[in-house]
Amino acid sequence: MEILQIERKSVKMKMLERRYGDFFFIYNADQLEENYNEMFSAFKSRYDRFIIGYSFKTNYLPALVKKMSEMGAYAEVVSRMEFELAEKLCIDTSKIIFNGPLKSYEDIAKALEGNSILNLDSSYEIELVKEYAKKNKDKHYKVGIRVNFDLTIEGETTLLDGYERSRFGFFVENGDAEKAINELTSIQNVDVVGLHGHFSTSIRSLPVYQKNIQVLCDLAKQYVKETLEYLDVGGGFYGRVPKTMEIPDAPTFDDYAETICTVINREKVHFKKEPYLIIEPGLALVADTFKFYCKVIDVKQFKDESFVLVKGSVQNIKPAMHSRNLPLNHVKRNEKAYKKGKFNVVGYTCMEKDYLVTDQVGEIPKPQDYLVFSNVGAYTIVLAPAFIKERPAIIEKKGDSYSVVRKRETLTDFINDNVYVY
Ligand SMILES: Cc1ncc(COP(=O)(O)O)c(C=O)c1O
Repeated sequence: MEILQIERKSVKMKMLERRYGDFFFIYNADQLEENYNEMFSAFKSRYDRFIIGYSFKTNYLPALVKKMSEMGAYAEVVSRMEFELAEKLCIDTSKIIFNGPLKSYEDIAKALEGNSILNLDSSYEIELVKEYAKKNKDKHYKVGIRVNFDLTIEGETTLLDGYERSRFGFFVENGDAEKAINELTSIQNVDVVGLHGHFSTSIRSLPVYQKNIQVLCDLAKQYVKETLEYLDVGGGFYGRVPKTMEIPDAPTFDDYAETICTVINREKVHFKKEPYLIIEPGLALVADTFKFYCKVIDVKQFKDESFVLVKGSVQNIKPAMHSRNLPLNHVKRNEKAYKKGKFNVVGYTCMEKDYLVTDQVGEIPKPQDYLVFSNVGAYTIVLAPAFIKERPAIIEKKGDSYSVVRKRETLTDFINDNVYVY
């Protein structure tokens, strides 16, 4: 598979290197805006009461999250730390969706006080809601629950990594979800107003969403049709997938919107109030907004294979270490001819498996060149460990202007004296 494209952009590269060093990310704010607007209008044009809750965990670069909220997104958070980050960025607490399997009493109190959208994940949280509601009898509270049901399609599980059953939320088939709703509605000053059904699937395909929204509607009709205010189908959508990643049948935003909105438009008549439709995209909005630039330092050759050492690591571009090669551009900065051959791009850590890309066939990069990896905005910045080397700077690109939105770390950031005691 030939995925290497050659760019002759050494002038721009010189400027970037002079300003930002020899490895860094470029975050394209214009691309983010385009992605958000495209996804939002695909759904909004089909169903008016629509909310995007951006999944913070996918990439909580403050500049990015702030922009997302300025465009109108709610913040989907799964920890107190993420909740407080949203507050720090001046996001109104009523525009925070608080999910996740582990919430303390204080977390629940904060969400209820702040009028946030709170989705409970397991029964111990019901006890915490009960306790809080009892102490505040003069107020009325709204909660949602995450539900978990069989998502087998055509006899095969659709869950990521081949799991038969998701571990999140209240199981529907064994009666846990029904029991949870009954317990919550029996609390005098609490209503169940929402159902949440996020599933991380490997196929991100339309039948998954069709089944998800249909089951959510059916459950809502059965248990909460008087109080329902929202149905939340979670995230897990594809965004714009580069051709080189070879996923030819990835649905578009319009395909997802058509599938989901057809169901909710048909079912909405069953509810007292027309519910909001919430989606929680992460990857679909941010994956293609980041590129990673790294300088070639040296090239080794063994038999017919070359190893191109770069100032970068697989941890910068795919910390989950999946085997798919990311789109790659080669910025040539050497005048003499390039030899063709097979090569791998390897990183600065001491891990044998630190391969940024494998089995490339084409012109072998030379020292001083740059390699640019695209589609690295999702689950990279947040999952990169403080391992061996400082984390690189992130540069925001808006139009033709560039500005630093995260500085390159130094030893003091890495080993923070406010944290470590020695
Ligand atoms: C509850 C929830 N919502 C949304 C997302 C975002 O998923 P994605 O980045 O695949 O869109 C996740 C990711 O795991 C999640 O757990």
